[in-house]
Amino acid sequence: MNKITIAIDGFSSTGKSTVAKQLAKALGYIYVDTGAMYRAVTFYAMDRGLINESDFNVEALIYQLPKISISFKFNEALGFAEVYLNGKNIEKKIRTLEVSSFVSKVAAISEVRQKLVEQQQKMGQDKGVVMDGRDIGTVVFPEAELKLFMTASAETRAKRRYQELLERGEQVSYEDVLANVQERDHIDSTREDSPLTKAKDAIEIDNSNMTLDEQFNKIFQLANMTI
Ligand code: C5P
Repeated sequence: MNKITIAIDGFSSTGKSTVAKQLAKALGYIYVDTGAMYRAVTFYAMDRGLINESDFNVEALIYQLPKISISFKFNEALGFAEVYLNGKNIEKKIRTLEVSSFVSKVAAISEVRQKLVEQQQKMGQDKGVVMDGRDIGTVVFPEAELKLFMTASAETRAKRRYQELLERGEQVSYEDVLANVQERDHIDSTREDSPLTKAKDAIEIDNSNMTLDEQFNKIFQLANMTI
């Protein structure tokens, strides 16, 4: 069967990864969570003391980029691929609000983007891939056969994220989560390199009032119409 590239972009916590994972499974495609790659670089920077509340040593991070190796390994029990940093599983460590609070600053650095985009293009070079992020349909795979742009109100997204963090046992307030979602939206859409924008040929899906099943059915149908 003809394999295509499916690019899913959109704001933070629009549920891109949930639906992307489901879609990849249904089509027998590879799923790549590019946000996890930016989070992995951020985790590295935090772990080495290169970024904190008051300081960000951008030069040192750029200098150390060649030392950073990110990979994914499929976890059969979980049914999705987990992210590894220099051989260590960091899947759980990158989803915290602390990593979320620094990640957009790290993702605005061109040298970081260049490294990760190159790896993402290699991962998707044989097609048969569902990739989600902020710049997939505009920069990573501008030729993708199917491009989706997911949106939902900031409050809806913050509520979902808040629930998710609570379920993982993090002590967070809804206000802090909402502030983080809004701050990331702002940084991601106004940065100079590869800002978050809807590709001209992307199909916009506002999922504020859609269930997961409704979203999946819509996207699965669009994929089948394109393949
Ligand atoms: O998708 P997720 O929310 O995990 O992404 C975390 C952050 O990584 C985003 O807020 C954004 O700053 C950055 N990102 C990006 N480009 C991508 C994917 C994520 O800049 N393709």
